[in-house]
Amino acid sequence: MRKEHRVKLHLLSKLADGDFHSGEALGQELGMSRAAIAKHINGIQEWGLDIYRIQGRGYQLAQPLYLLDEARLQAQSMASVELIPVIDSTNQYLLNRIGELESGHVCLAEYQSQGRGRRGRQWFSPFGANLYMSMYWKLDAGMAAAMGLSLVVGIAAVEALESLGIQGVKLKWPNDVYYQDKKLAGILVEMSGQAGGAAHLVIGMGLNILMQESKDSIDQPWTALNQIDSATPIDRNQLALTLMRSWQQALKEYELCGMPGFVERWNRLDNFRGRQVKLLMGAREVYGEVVGIDNQGGVLLSSANGVQSYLGGEISLRPVDK
Ligand code: ATP
Ligand code: BTN
Repeated sequence: MRKEHRVKLHLLSKLADGDFHSGEALGQELGMSRAAIAKHINGIQEWGLDIYRIQGRGYQLAQPLYLLDEARLQAQSMASVELIPVIDSTNQYLLNRIGELESGHVCLAEYQSQGRGRRGRQWFSPFGANLYMSMYWKLDAGMAAAMGLSLVVGIAAVEALESLGIQGVKLKWPNDVYYQDKKLAGILVEMSGQAGGAAHLVIGMGLNILMQESKDSIDQPWTALNQIDSATPIDRNQLALTLMRSWQQALKEYELCGMPGFVERWNRLDNFRGRQVKLLMGAREVYGEVVGIDNQGGVLLSSANGVQSYLGGEISLRPVDK
């Protein structure tokens, strides 16, 4: 880890309690001047954290942080887990190491400088506020089964949230997680595999937990778990462990039995079932009512032409009025 990252992470472990810490006390703890501390605090703010400075009292985080704990995650998980607090992208990290990894290996981060969504779009990843998690999965069935898999992971994520008492979370085909028509999480499946052989997949999810209202760099309605139930503090470690287990279980089931067992589970959670939507496919737009998904993971749209299935990574679904 770079030394300047180590210093900033040390500072954050002190500030995480949400109390005031004077520049002088922090300087003594880290063996550096108050001016050096001030410089590092500025750097930390570039990771998307709001820190107040009040004359005579010192520095305070806008909200306390509940940091991920690699030792706990490793001890309580069936998977091998790596926590890399500051990273470009957890998906990219695993893609770069596919040859060295065991299927099921997980990478988590506290901050991503280049978190990404589909088609190169940016995934906003402020430090410590959300969950950024990727898992490597070797799918022997090959690339053709990858589309269904990306739906399966979304189902498993919502079911994991339900098992923690978080209700009302839905899915948008193919793999966004919604709450009250706003984006709560996004899933990105990337692959590196030769046609015909096993598919080497990296499944990444960004799940908003405590993100602040002021993040207006996101150009669509979004939400975070703390807006669903602000009374219950969220244990991010527990959440990560529950999600990992749920993914592993669902992926194994998918490998053994395929998509059929997931169709009804998807339909129960589909945010747009029974609603009029449009599908954007490059320059083409198709309108219809969502009636479900099929055994390949395609979305079924009912229109004047009957019911048709649409499948493919380049398709985006939108409500008709957006
Ligand atoms: P599609 O239906 O094509 O997937 P999308 O607009 O959801 O459309 P994605 O590529 O899936 O696009 O996701 C990236 C988009 O998500 C960004 O363009 C931004 O609008 C939004 N976004 C970025 N960061 C966050 C975040 N932390 N929380 C919620 N939404 C975000
Ligand atoms: C989307 O909605 O398009 C998907 C967003 C996926 C974001 C996650 S965060 C962890 C992983 N690393 C990335 O760079 N992207 C995914």
